[in-house]
Parts: sequence; structure tokens; C-alpha cells
Amino acid sequence: MTDKEISDRLQVALLAANRAGAFVLEAGKRGGHVLHRKQTNDFVTETDKLAEELIISIIKEHFPADAVFGEETGSSGKLEHGRWIIDPIDGTTNFFRSLPNYTISIAWEMEPFKPLVGVVFNPRQNELFWAGKDTGAFLNGEPIQVSKLEDHSQAIIVCVPPHRRHDLAESYFEKMKRIFLASSDLRSYGSCALELSYLAAGRVDGYYELCLGYYDMAAGICIVREAGGDFTSADPLTPFSDNRCDLVASNGLIQDWLFHMVQA
Ligand code: IPD
Ligand code: CA
Ligand code: CA
Repeated sequence: MTDKEISDRLQVALLAANRAGAFVLEAGKRGGHVLHRKQTNDFVTETDKLAEELIISIIKEHFPADAVFGEETGSSGKLEHGRWIIDPIDGTTNFFRSLPNYTISIAWEMEPFKPLVGVVFNPRQNELFWAGKDTGAFLNGEPIQVSKLEDHSQAIIVCVPPHRRHDLAESYFEKMKRIFLASSDLRSYGSCALELSYLAAGRVDGYYELCLGYYDMAAGICIVREAGGDFTSADPLTPFSDNRCDLVASNGLIQDWLFHMVQA
């Protein structure tokens, strides 16, 4: 894969994120969302579906042979030219409740779970995060880096309880309590892609969530990696898959500590 092939995809990801962001922002202002429940605490609006269609149409216009994996439309195409991973609105609950923390998240990769391009756009706050392999990470054109914090007692950690898997609540809250008592404070913003972008920008220092879809985090982990951070599966025996990712991410300096905190 050449630098040009990566940077061409990055340009298209930026274009698609900007267009979809403008579309979702307008739909959010109009309100009156048509809401469907996919499973417990998992919602989709008509805007999610239309935004995904828009993103895919832009991608297909430029790279018709590439494969696509979208949260709302699933997988299509052959993998030899790589695949795009799309979450048209990450933070749908925030979107239909008029909370500002939702994003358009678009990634592209040649090998599974090694994203080479990641773009995350929060249209409500006009913050555009992006990274390509070996480009570094950027927020609205300015370089960003993870925090340099080494002392976990001063760290802010994003912890997101398993709101779709209440059967995992007891074990999760036990670990969350451990992290809470050994850190400065916890946060939860309702969009994985946004939270990972905040980690990349040094606004928070760590992240722990179970049962993500790969589309929630693909763009975000690319941006974290390029900003100097680190991430891994929370369970060494369960590697990432398209439909289940248990994620521990951090500025790298507190990665071993955080990983240790979430083991049984
Ligand atoms: C959700 C958000 C949320 C995370 C959930 C995701 P959606 O995505 O990323 O932060 O806690 O696990 O499913 O459904 O709004 O695209
Ligand atoms: Ca999502
Ligand atoms: Ca979504």
C-alpha cells in the first residue's frame, strides 16, 4: 500500500465525514426523528441510515472496488482493495436526545483491525479529528498528541458500563470501582469515536469499554495510535472481531496499569 493510496482514501474520508456531518446536523435541527429499537438500548434513526447511504455513495464514486462494512448496512465487496468501516452516527442516543456528543466515524484498512485511515467529525462542535498511517493525528488541522501523564492517580479515565449487556454489569462495575479509586475521575460521553478522539487529543488519559462493534472504534483507534497512544483487547483470549471488541486504550504510559486493573 503506497502513501498515495492511503492519502487518497483519507481525502475521501474527510469529504464524506464533512458532507455527512452537515446532513446529520441539519436533520438534528429539524428533529422529529423516526426511531427504531435494534436491541436493548440500541437505537437507529432514519438519519443514521440516510447518512450511511450518503457516505457509501461518496466512497463508491471514488473507490468502486473497495469493500464496505457499515453499521447499518453490513458488509459488501471483496477485501483485496481494503475495506471501509463506517459508523454514520456514533452516539445515536445523544443525537436524538439533542445532546451534542455524536460523531461521524469513517476508517479504512487493508488488514483486519489495523486501520490506516481514521476520521471522526463532531458536527455540533465543529471538531474534525483525523489521522493516516504515519501522518500523526490532527484536530481541525492542528497536530494533537496523547497526554504525557504517567501517574494514574491523576488520570481521567473514560469508563462506559455495558448498557446493552446488563449481565456483565456486576463484573464491570467491580473493575470500574477499582479504576475510580486509583485514578482522579471518570467520564462517559456516549460516543466511542469521540472518546477515543479526546484520548488522542490529551483531554482524557484512558478508556475502558466492553462489547463495542468494530465500527464504533475503528477510526478512533487509528487516531489514538497516530497521536502516540496505545490500545489492546481487554481480554487477551478474545481478540477484536467485527461484532465484539472489548477495548482498553490509553496514552500508552498508563496502558499496563489500566490493562492490569481490568483483569479478573
Ligand atoms: C454507541 C456509542 C456509545 C457506546 C456504545 C455504542 P451508536 O454507538 O459508541 O458510546 O457506549 O457501545 O454502540 O449505537 O450510538 O452508534
Ligand atoms: Ca457506534
Ligand atoms: Ca451508529
